[in-house]
Amino acid sequence: MTVENDVSIQDLAGRLPRSFTLGVAAAAFQIEGALATDGRGPSGWDAFVEKPGAIWDGHSPAMACDHYNRLAEDVALMRELGVDSYRFSISWPRIQPDGRGAFNEQGLDFYDRLIDQLLEAGISPMATLYHWDTPLPLEHGGGWMNRATAERFAEYSAAAGRRFGDRVDQWVTLNEPASVVLNGYALGVHAPGRYLLFDAFPAVHHQLLAHGLSVQALRAEGVRGGIGVTNLHSPVRPATEKIADRAVAKVFDMMLNRIYADPILLGRYPFALRLAKPWLRSLPKISDADLRTIHQPVDFYGVNYYQPVKVAAGQGTGDDLTVPAEAMIKIPAHQVPFEEYETTGFGWPVAPEHLGILLRELKDRYKDALPPIYITESGASFPEPEHVTGPVPDQPRIDYIAGHLQHAMEATAPGGIADDVELRGYYVWTLMDNFEWAAGYSQRFGLVHVDFETLERTPKESFYWYKALSLARKPLA
Ligand code: NOJ
Repeated sequence: MTVENDVSIQDLAGRLPRSFTLGVAAAAFQIEGALATDGRGPSGWDAFVEKPGAIWDGHSPAMACDHYNRLAEDVALMRELGVDSYRFSISWPRIQPDGRGAFNEQGLDFYDRLIDQLLEAGISPMATLYHWDTPLPLEHGGGWMNRATAERFAEYSAAAGRRFGDRVDQWVTLNEPASVVLNGYALGVHAPGRYLLFDAFPAVHHQLLAHGLSVQALRAEGVRGGIGVTNLHSPVRPATEKIADRAVAKVFDMMLNRIYADPILLGRYPFALRLAKPWLRSLPKISDADLRTIHQPVDFYGVNYYQPVKVAAGQGTGDDLTVPAEAMIKIPAHQVPFEEYETTGFGWPVAPEHLGILLRELKDRYKDALPPIYITESGASFPEPEHVTGPVPDQPRIDYIAGHLQHAMEATAPGGIADDVELRGYYVWTLMDNFEWAAGYSQRFGLVHVDFETLERTPKESFYWYKALSLARKPLA
């Protein structure tokens, strides 16, 4: 660790409020492997990865990080890292293989062991109930296009609450419903691989309903932890101040951010959704009763922030799109690169100041309806070797995390642009390199390097940096 880094660690540590949570996040399907072990049932993702061309270079999640069998080693890594909290996800098909009916005792046991080992290590468990692995039988019944999936999700939530509710500190109902709808149901690049474009809208509504029903189910079980939800937030900027660009930016903002956040926090869909009516042929009937269910009081709001998005009206070249606007809204619009930022391994702009701006915008939009916030994911992939023999230098990741934390702290400190936002914590995505969905193992986001041939874990320099930050904040007793 260089002196320069030590200085910035001290500075940053000094800005973190005493009770601020520093954490790491991960998701079951991306790390566990053991897909057919101890009674786990298949998920929609198990089926999707079999489709030729679906996953980069044909990579398979069958082994992933083998976390299922290396639980103790991974908890020991987190203990060494010194984080306050671990955000993991419970695999629905591992604990309820059919997505309905019987629960799988061996699956439940696995999460008992995980939670108990975390508590023993002094790490607070934050459990996400849905991080994209829908039980396959439910996917065959239409998945999130079918309203019944929301009811099944409530039953599963109740069972998880019953079993783990005495030990989990924070519950997250859904992770990034926006990604599931756009990538999975609208564009077909994630499971379940459906290309419904605007007709995917029911998958929005049914996930939101699932969230509300899940909150109710967890409360009915008397879980002692806080309950919230995690949304992806990609601040949308118009390429210019021209009316056409600003209009397109508004539509993108609605489709990426607001249709998920508004119903949860305000109990209504954004007004602008009505303007999109001509495209929303499949708009399900949205009753006031549904909106009331979706609008449950939550204890916190989870924000996943990776990058801002810049959009312009008019036809693009086609290769500059990560969300193909033409496909989404069938009006000519395209995504424009930010020239001023460096990019990550995925080509995403590194724009930490937008995190502070995002917090400001959320508060402006939701005012007193905005609960305390956790940044439930923030991190970056960079090109790194598949095999390593010694320490793994990853200064760009250190800079990324330091920059985002610093902007979040400056924004929320007294006198900062978002000083009326209660920011409670920050979770790095992710503990260790893992199965990055359609990108397979090609994008490494971890603080810990994983050799996917030997499964050896090697902490990167960012691991030691994050550890030093945590230590600098908490003087050793
Ligand atoms: C958000 C998702 O929740 C997570 O599963 C994914 O790995 C990261 N984004 C990085 O793409």
